[in-house]
This record gives sequence, C-alpha cells and structure tokens, in this order.
Amino acid sequence: MEPAFARPRWLDRPASVARNRTPADARDALPGISGPAAPPGSKVAPAVDSTGRVGASGTGGPWIRSAWRLPGAAALVVVGTLSAHAQAKQSAQPPDPAAVQRGAYLLTAANCASCHTLPGSGSAHQLAGGRALPTPFGVFFSPNITPDPIHGIGGWTFGDFKRALRRGVSPSNTHYYPVFPYTSYTGMSDSDIEDLWAYLGSVPPVSQPNRPHELGFPYSLRLAMAPWKVLFLDQGPLKPEPGRPPEWNRGRYLVNAVAHCADCHAPRNFLGAVDRGRTMSGTRERLEGYEVPNITPDIQTGIGRWSVGDVTGLLAGRGMRAMHVGGPMREVVRNTSRLSEADRTAMAVYLKSLPPRFGEVKPGGMMGGMCH
Ligand code: HEC
Ligand code: HEC
Repeated sequence: MEPAFARPRWLDRPASVARNRTPADARDALPGISGPAAPPGSKVAPAVDSTGRVGASGTGGPWIRSAWRLPGAAALVVVGTLSAHAQAKQSAQPPDPAAVQRGAYLLTAANCASCHTLPGSGSAHQLAGGRALPTPFGVFFSPNITPDPIHGIGGWTFGDFKRALRRGVSPSNTHYYPVFPYTSYTGMSDSDIEDLWAYLGSVPPVSQPNRPHELGFPYSLRLAMAPWKVLFLDQGPLKPEPGRPPEWNRGRYLVNAVAHCADCHAPRNFLGAVDRGRTMSGTRERLEGYEVPNITPDIQTGIGRWSVGDVTGLLAGRGMRAMHVGGPMREVVRNTSRLSEADRTAMAVYLKSLPPRFGEVKPGGMMGGMCH
C-alpha cells in the first residue's frame, strides 16, 4: 500500500489534533447535555440533535455556552425558554436500563471495546483508549470513549455521537480517519446508535488522556479525509432489502453495519478504502501478522465447503476452527461468542449467500489443509 493520498495544494495546514475539548469547553458542554442528574447516556440527547445540532460545534454552541455561565436556576430557565420544554423535562430521566443493555450487546457485536481498550490494562481502563493500531499509514491510538468530561466523550451530545458514527465527523468538525470503522457503522439504525450512546453513558468515566497518532506525512493531514469521504462513505442507515427474509437482512446488517467483517476481510485500494468489488474475499495484507482469508462461498478458495453451521460454530467459539483461529479474528470470536445463536446464524446465512469470489488466502490457515 505504497501510494499516498494525493495531496491537494490547498491542504497546507497541519491536521488539527485537538480532538478533545479544553477543560473549559467540557465544563460548558456537560450540563447542556443532561444536567447533573443524568449521565450523558440519558434520552435527552436525541432531542438536542433534532433541535438544530446544539452540540455540533463541539462547544455547545455560543448561546448555550453563555446560558450556562448564568447561575444554576437562571440557566435552567434560559435553556428551557430557548429550547423545547420537553427537553428540560427529559433531562431528569436516568438512562433506560433496557437501552443500556441493548447498547452493551451492540458494543460487543461491533468490537468497540476491543479497539478502545488497551489490552491488559484491566477493567478499570475499559474503553479508555490507548490501544495502538498499526496501519500502512502509521500508528493510530484509539481515543478514550468513557464519559470523562475532559479526556473522554463526557462533554458530547447525542448529536455529536451520531455524527461521529454516521459521518465520521468530530464535534469540532474535523474528519476521522477510517481506521475508526465509521464507513461500516454509518449503516447502523438510529435506535441502535441511541442504545450504544445509552450504554456509553453508563460506564465509569476514566481520566486517561489520549495519545496522539503517529502518522507519516501526508496522512497526518486530517483534512485529506474530506475528499476521501466523498468517494468512499456511503452514508447510512442501511435499509433492509425488500424481498429477502428477515434473517438474511439481519445477517447483512450485522455483518456490514455492526461487525464490520469487510474492514478486515477485503483488500484495500491505494487510498486505504475497502475495495468493494472484492469485499469479503480476504487479503494478503497482514493484520498483526495474520493474512486474512476469503470468506465468500467460493469452493476452492473460500468458505464454499463450510455449512451455515460451520460458520455459526466458529463465531460461537465452538470446535476445532474456533480453537485454531488466531490474531485479530480470535478477538472477533470472543465477541461473537457472546451474541445470540440467532444472530450468529443470521450472519452465517448472509455470508453463505454472497457471490463467490476468488481470494488469495484460503480459510483454515493454521490448520493447513485439514478442512479442505
Ligand atoms: C478498529 C478499531 C476501532 C473500532 C472497532 C472502533 N473504534 Fe472508535 N475509534 C478508533 C480510532 C483509531 C479512533 C480515532 C480516529 C481519529 O482520530 O480520526 C476512534 C474514534 C472514535 C470516537 C471519537 C472519539 C474522539 O475523541 O473524538 C468515538 C466516539 C468512537 N471511536 C466510538 C466507537 C464506537 C461506539 C465503536 C463501536 C461501535 C468504535 N468506536 C469502534 C478505533 C476504533
Ligand atoms: C479485526 C479484523 C477482523 C475482523 C473485524 C473480522 N475478521 Fe475474520 N479473520 C481475521 C483474520 C486475521 C483471520 C485469519 C485468522 C487465522 O489465520 O488464524 C480471520 C479468519 C476468519 C475466518 C476463517 C477461520 C478459519 O478457520 O480459517 C472466518 C470464517 C472469518 N474470519 C469470518 C469473519 C466474520 C463473519 C467476521 C465478522 C463478524 C469477521 N471474520 C471479522 C480478521 C478479522
């Protein structure tokens, strides 16, 4: 993956590294989300989004910021007048426990914690980021996504969060790198994004600063992501395909929008985007030392000889295949093994329905020819 992003002449400004707010910003933004009584996962957040992106500037917007500089009660009155009354009422509600639970499930299915937790850092650092993600463009470090108001996303609104997942845009309007797989998460439904948000608001905040990415030039230019996204971001949500059974559509949704299997199981083009014509056909480009196999149902080079049950079994962590699967896929299996059997079967059904494609890497890597 040698060639670089073409560097337009106008991109002569270094990337903004200020992903996180200053402590002052965070102080201003936090009460704007939910008030002291409710964590950031509270249901008030969607209302903020629908009233014109109060939080989209990353600082709560000028008017809400100044409102919050007034002493407590007065500020409530001002905000209540300026925005919907319903919003102020909702802010008293704690997050819905059922939404938190659904969010935890989605977080597992989407591998969020695998990337956003430093391996071996212990449960006290869950979701606090710091994991190194080496890529051909340099080393990325996952950020803290706990509700810490300074180092995490505690100062965010639901609107900020939704924009990050759907459009890959930060609260301060910078573009995220697609190593954060928003090109897949963009397909998630609004209600699933709300549930994820509810869950993230329920985890303990961890005060751990983010580590800056170590990227070579010109990848260090965040702005270069803007034209990239025009080319490669298909903004979601992913709509079900009519005429297909619900199980198949569920599998398609999980594989593509949530579990982002193609992010690893496809070759990338010279701009680092998934090659859509060869999606799921694997790649020789190694991930943590592992080549990534073809998981289309091609008989010779893919999972053509696997039954739906074989795929489901692997994702459940059962049997020889699961025992031998290594590297990044072992982490994926740790997550998929915690999903429902119905969801695993749906993913398997969908994968087996894909058009067979030739791939350079056959599954069954460590087992040699045993399966074939
Ligand atoms: C493959 C690794 C990976 C996975 C999986 C992943 N992320 Fe991230 N995420 C990153 C990286 C790396 C960044 C930083 C991107 C950048 O700086 O442009 C990031 C950025 C973010 C941000 C922005 C944080 C900030 O401070 O601006 C949020 C929010 C986020 N991720 C949430 C999630 C959620 C929720 C999930 C699961 C649905 C998830 N991520 C899954 C790697 C990942
Ligand atoms: C983070 C990258 C990554 C993601 C995401 C990922 N895989 Fe994998 N997958 C791999 C790698 C690497 C291997 C090869 C592992 C090995 O050789 O031991 C692999 C292997 C496999 C295999 C072959 C196992 C075998 O016995 O040879 C299947 C099937 C598979 N993945 C399915 C999936 C499905 C389905 C998803 C989405 C739910 C998925 N993968 C998501 C990286 C990934």
